Amino acid sequence: MKVLMLNGSSNPKGNTRCALGIVAEELAKEGIESEIFEIGAGPVRDCIGCGRCTENGCVFADDRVNEFVALAKQADAFVFGTPVYYAHPSGRVLSFLDRAFYSSKCAFSHKPGASVVVARRAGTSASFDAMNKYFGISEMPVVGSSYWNVAHGARAGEVVRDDEGVQTLKNLAKNMAWLLRCIEKGRECGVALPDTYDGARTNFIR
Ligand SMILES: Cc1cc2nc3c(=O)[nH]c(=O)nc-3n(C[C@H](O)[C@H](O)[C@H](O)COP(=O)(O)O)c2cc1C
Repeated sequence: MKVLMLNGSSNPKGNTRCALGIVAEELAKEGIESEIFEIGAGPVRDCIGCGRCTENGCVFADDRVNEFVALAKQADAFVFGTPVYYAHPSGRVLSFLDRAFYSSKCAFSHKPGASVVVARRAGTSASFDAMNKYFGISEMPVVGSSYWNVAHGARAGEVVRDDEGVQTLKNLAKNMAWLLRCIEKGRECGVALPDTYDGARTNFIR
């Protein structure tokens, strides 16, 4: 079983990466493999709603979105991390995930997801809500912890000094591991994925 994480900060040594590292370490103790994918500091395009999504992901291939989509198809669960910028997730993580989910929802459906939010001080709840929206529309069980998945830090690495934040991240990993084991056991016992309805798209009520 493998958990694919996304560092939505351009800083590969910053607090978001550090928070995801804590989740990864705890997952490893539970015997679960993980990988942290760096969004990087290069340009990330927005979704322009062109509707030309391909089976490999987004029609634009000049950033790392499709590389992430390919890994997502193989992954069993996800943790998306972001720093808070002006009380919302980083612009780059939203652009990245808009295109990953709009082009390739099936790579994520019915797999557990969690988001992790890091801030110096404020805007964590609003950012956490925004990140969790991807899961709700993609039929994904959302994994929680003993607090909302937030941790505080300003200078790189400072997040490790937020004791409750660290505890929350570790508990998130334990809950993720538990859910993954439940899903695996269910699959072994013949529990099939739900055959959900599709096709109705009521854009407005006449
Ligand atoms: C453009 C920008 C906006 C920010 N806005 C907020 C904010 O609204 N609230 C807050 O608490 N911290 C804010 N911060 C601080 C970062 O969230 C914080 O330093 C975080 O630890 C950075 O994560 P990173 O090291 O993974 O990049 C902001 C930082 C930047 C660069």
